[in-house]
Amino acid sequence: MSPYLLTRTLPENATGAALRADVLQGLTRTPRMLPPKWFYDARGSELFEEITRLPEYYPTRAEREILIARASEIAASTGARTLIELGSGSSEKTRHLLDALTGLHSYVPVDVSESALAGAAEGLLAEHPALQVHALIADFTAGLELPDTPGPRLVAFLGGTVGNLLPAERAAFLSSVRALLAPGDALLLGTDLVKDGSVLVKAYDDAAGVTAAFNKNVLTVINRELGADFELDDFDHVARWDPEREWIEMRLRARRALTVKVRELDLVAHFEAGEEVRTEVSAKFRQEGVRAELASAGMTLTHWWTDEAGRFALSLATVV
Ligand code: SAH
Ligand code: TRP
Repeated sequence: MSPYLLTRTLPENATGAALRADVLQGLTRTPRMLPPKWFYDARGSELFEEITRLPEYYPTRAEREILIARASEIAASTGARTLIELGSGSSEKTRHLLDALTGLHSYVPVDVSESALAGAAEGLLAEHPALQVHALIADFTAGLELPDTPGPRLVAFLGGTVGNLLPAERAAFLSSVRALLAPGDALLLGTDLVKDGSVLVKAYDDAAGVTAAFNKNVLTVINRELGADFELDDFDHVARWDPEREWIEMRLRARRALTVKVRELDLVAHFEAGEEVRTEVSAKFRQEGVRAELASAGMTLTHWWTDEAGRFALSLATVV
């Protein structure tokens, strides 16, 4: 078995510096807001894997269904020799692609979660001993430097994670993905679709409380990294469907009036009872919107596949 390479493009102190700036900005603005990448420490990555197995959280199963049905078509139309996967997490669904991409030379999983990358790479190499696995610890919104591997390239961005970027961030991000592609390369994009609000809210507010624990994990990260004293029990998990913006909004709501100290920021934050911090949005899409956003970034939608129930879509896009 060939060993895998793990390259860090995030500085070792990235959590320090960037988390500080994000928390200071996020807790002092109105309304309060925290960026979602801080959910994913080792515990957060584990909790997300638990979310993917919840009965209410359909996106993972729906996307896997599409991947299984379309993997050979994806392989035939891309002929990819390098698969780059952004926000790869456990790479669990990616197996279906790796099995189908018979000419594949390199797999480049990219994630901020080092524990998720290491776990995924070891599992994959056991199944694909000849594959070059070059894992990148990196922020996919911050200008990626990819290893020099043979084309054609296929960039995969699964899980509906593109919906966790705000519209302006999404446009910038898609343009940066376009810049990674040469003619003959492709993007495979997973998007959750607009549907009944009650189905969506249940997917982000499950009966077992796993999503609530995942949402509150961001407070545990801030407590540990910045010496804050958030009491997790002082906050309720809130998931709300916004039918105008067509996104799910995740928030943490203070159960009572309280004061939080963030030692390393010399910050004292007062919360009124009922005051909320927005922790994440998860936008839901329609085909025409996806096509238009890809076109604005210089890409052409060539395939649109959904699961049988029409809940989730995989798009394949190329550049000219
Ligand atoms: N692709 C997997 C995981 C989706 S969860 C699936 O479909 O199940 C989102 C993943 O993106 C997590 O593993 C998280 O660590 C990663 N992530 C979130 N923000 C990121 C960022 N800015 N840069 C790199 N990875 C990020
Ligand atoms: N990309 C996932 C999604 O938008 C992330 C996610 C799932 C998530 N459940 C969550 C993020 C709960 C925050 C809270 O579906």
